[in-house]
Amino acid sequence: MSDPYFQSLFAERIGGANYGKGTEIYKFEKIKRAKRQALADHPDRLLLDFGIGENDGMAAENVRRSMAEEINQPENRGYADNGIAAFKEAAARFMQRVFGVTLDPVAEVNHCIGSKPALAMIPACFVNPGDVTLMTVPGYPVAGTHTRYYGGEVHRLPLLREHGYLPDLDGIPADVKRRAKLLVLNYPNSPTGAVATRDFYARVVDFATRHQVVVVQDAAHTVLTYEGAPLSFLAVPGAKDVGIEIHSLSKGFDMIGWRLGWFCGHPRIVQALADVKDNSDSGQFIAIQKAAITALDDPTIPGRTRDKYRRRLEKLVALLRRCGFTCAMPGGTYFLYCPAPTGTADGRTFENAEAASQYLIHEHSIVTVPWDDAGPHLRFSVTYEAADEPAEDALMATAEERLRAIRPVF
Ligand SMILES: Cc1ncc(COP(=O)(O)O)c(C=O)c1O
Repeated sequence: MSDPYFQSLFAERIGGANYGKGTEIYKFEKIKRAKRQALADHPDRLLLDFGIGENDGMAAENVRRSMAEEINQPENRGYADNGIAAFKEAAARFMQRVFGVTLDPVAEVNHCIGSKPALAMIPACFVNPGDVTLMTVPGYPVAGTHTRYYGGEVHRLPLLREHGYLPDLDGIPADVKRRAKLLVLNYPNSPTGAVATRDFYARVVDFATRHQVVVVQDAAHTVLTYEGAPLSFLAVPGAKDVGIEIHSLSKGFDMIGWRLGWFCGHPRIVQALADVKDNSDSGQFIAIQKAAITALDDPTIPGRTRDKYRRRLEKLVALLRRCGFTCAMPGGTYFLYCPAPTGTADGRTFENAEAASQYLIHEHSIVTVPWDDAGPHLRFSVTYEAADEPAEDALMATAEERLRAIRPVF
């Protein structure tokens, strides 16, 4: 097939004239293909899917009821632009109730259509060509991708177990620190499951002030905190002077497809991001914002989501340990991150986590997500579908049987 006339018109940031011609397959696409293959090869073998990063549950009944009512209200029909005041007020109440953080809902809070778009837009506010965004790896890459779109560079900060999966800010080269404009953090961290400490956040505030860097803390998983109480970056003295925190209704409220979140913190940064947002979208459907108010004002919902994923993680940690994996209960998220096996007792070897993950899917219908950015690791998610606890236990028993038979070595 000959190229369309516009093949040479694609922007360099997405590959220029070579766009669409690469043969490299994105990691998640590889997993999807392997899953399809495993289902085709072994139609009678249950696929144990620890790969999905999406909640398995529906939003709470009262939230869905609120949505059903609001969808019929004529005043909810139009463009929401930068959001309704009532949602910002509910987000501010939530920040006060959960974290003890006081915010002005008018100037210090703004809604977004999920946290992903906010992370995609923040580089537009700060990054000029040659500027640096500091990003932790492994991690959620969206802010880094858009930094590159604007001609910026990404400096990767590896998250290592020996440092509690917190980045080593002191180790950043002086030249990088000089050019750095954004420091993107994510706690509770995906995929490592680590939570940040007050002490770490205090060091972040100090670092940001000294090096004049803006902090963007992605709190998408914050409701799913198991180690201590959930902690907001903004609860640490001085944080509001150096950055913002981005929150989401997706993970903690089972509203992943509803697409709603908010960013909050320094009013000038909130204003800049809201301005970019206003030039990119026209706001989330007001009925969704109103249903989300019901969610944010109901303290029982986060408790239920947290309890369910904590229970599932505890079972998975015990199981994997019995099968030889080194892992511990994560501080947060619905992910368990552990060193990947290097082979199996019958002599098979894996050159990296991706090879281990592909083997587990193809040969044993066990889906995980590999990470090789900071040493070979596998991420197990506990968002698998299981109707009730007995179903959960049955799934765990099958997983254990298969993993024991593999006899992984590390
Ligand atoms: C670390 C992290 N941040 C942000 C997001 C985006 O969440 P949402 O756009 O649904 O709020 C995700 C989703 O997987 C995530 O894992």
